[in-house]
Amino acid sequence: MIIAIDGTTSSGKGTLAKRLAAHYKLPHMDTGLLYRAVAASAINKGIDFSDERECALLAAHVELSEFDERELRGASVGAAASVVASLGAVRRALFELQRKFANQKGGAVLDGRDIGTVIAPDADVKLWVDASVEERARRRFLELSGMKEDVTEHGVLMQLKERDARDAGRADAPMKPADDAIWLETTALTPDECFAKAVEIVEEHRGKPKPAAKKAAAKAVAKKPKG
Ligand code: DC
Repeated sequence: MIIAIDGTTSSGKGTLAKRLAAHYKLPHMDTGLLYRAVAASAINKGIDFSDERECALLAAHVELSEFDERELRGASVGAAASVVASLGAVRRALFELQRKFANQKGGAVLDGRDIGTVIAPDADVKLWVDASVEERARRRFLELSGMKEDVTEHGVLMQLKERDARDAGRADAPMKPADDAIWLETTALTPDECFAKAVEIVEEHRGKPKPAAKKAAAKAVAKKPKG
């Protein structure tokens, strides 16, 4: 079973993806970390984010084990990741790695921005996770303060708005829900409630024919000669 989880920054999708993967005993990939690692490499090597070719070369050889995850999860790397993620060549360089992970035997859980639309359009279950920008800013502020980052809630709110606009506005694989994604609004939910709801959704939708298969079946019925 492939579970595709997309959504906005700090909507709770990462925590949810981890818990779903553990629950269904599936491998999990946080695809945001790939873009974060490319951004961190570019910063470390002094490569300009506008140099698409060089950034794509970094992406082609990205190795997550070479990074300290805590560093990758910082605010400045996150903002930089959103910038390199808008480069088409970087996305193409990271495509196959994600695609392979999604299609491994037994399935997988992947979370990101374009999993249901680009990486795994045939996923068995697609979730779109979102929350109000104020609530997301509150959560991200608490997380970053816990990491001893010098931030204010208002500053985080402004950064989130900027990041949402960039991620949703880019030409290549913009952040958006797949047509067949099921929406999960987490503003008023605790992580436990969010997980319980997601399991309900997965149980309801796994094994159901996918929209493409449904369309093909409808066509076949329409074409069937009468009598
Ligand atoms: O989920 P995150 O905050 O770790 O992601 C960091 C940035 O990477 C995010 O602003 C957009 C980009 N990203 C993307 O474009 N596509 C993905 N599948 C995952 C992340």
